[in-house]
Amino acid sequence: MKIILLLLLILQSNGAISAAQSWMRASYWFSGSGFRISDINSSLFTHIICAFGDINSVTYELNISSSDQKYFSVVSSTLKQRNPSVVTLLSIGGERSNYSIYSTMVSQPSSRKSFIESSMDLARSYGFDGLDFSWPSASTAADADNIGILFNEWSGGLPAEKIVLVLPFYGYAWTLKDPKADGIGAPATGSAFTPEGDMTYMAVKDFIR
Ligand SMILES: *[C@@H]1O[C@H](CO)[C@@H](O)[C@H](O)[C@H]1NC(C)=O
Ligand SMILES: *[C@@H]1O[C@H](CO)[C@@H](O)[C@H](O)[C@H]1NC(C)=O
Ligand SMILES: *[C@@H]1O[C@H](CO)[C@@H](O)[C@H](O)[C@H]1NC(C)=O
Repeated sequence: MKIILLLLLILQSNGAISAAQSWMRASYWFSGSGFRISDINSSLFTHIICAFGDINSVTYELNISSSDQKYFSVVSSTLKQRNPSVVTLLSIGGERSNYSIYSTMVSQPSSRKSFIESSMDLARSYGFDGLDFSWPSASTAADADNIGILFNEWSGGLPAEKIVLVLPFYGYAWTLKDPKADGIGAPATGSAFTPEGDMTYMAVKDFIR
């Protein structure tokens, strides 16, 4: 079983998550999803997470690919037209990231500093309310210790309620062993549709149709 923890860092005052709001209705959006930003009904969500920024292997600064820059610069303003209170987050990581760069980044004070400063600057300059650090494969004790150090330094100066550790429940598609046994916990032979079983909203809609 893989447990994925996400860390959200909220930069703007309107991005605070109140104590009463313990459930988030979050969605990831990425440019290859086939879904235009303007077609997202942002009223359905508390948080929309824009994927992905990546870490530069030389400078350890957060960067956004040149092909994503034009989308990311309008994400927040477009989504807030329909739902002004939706919280927009820039996600760092993703399946295609080279996590050995992350491992090095968290292990050195100077590279953590580059990453922290550039991430805050970049998120603010693109109008995001906060950041989402998604490193599902961190598994060594050293990585875990260093991530703790990064989080402490990253949140330095931010009030405690602006840093949120969340346990996300992703929906994955499975191939049932017996199509008739489809209850919760029914045996499966493996993932369906994609190697991990993750599906985009468009793919789910196509399948239902
Ligand atoms: C967006 O979602 C809200 C909340 O469910 C709903 O009331 C509204 O009709 C939806 N808008 C569109 C254009 O689908
Ligand atoms: C961002 O960092 C990634 C990972 O190191 C690198 O492949 C990419 O070229 C960088 N892009 C820019 C614009 O610096
Ligand atoms: C990941 O990054 C490390 C450090 O920059 C590099 O040595 C390695 O070749 C990279 N791996 C891949 C698959 O790109």
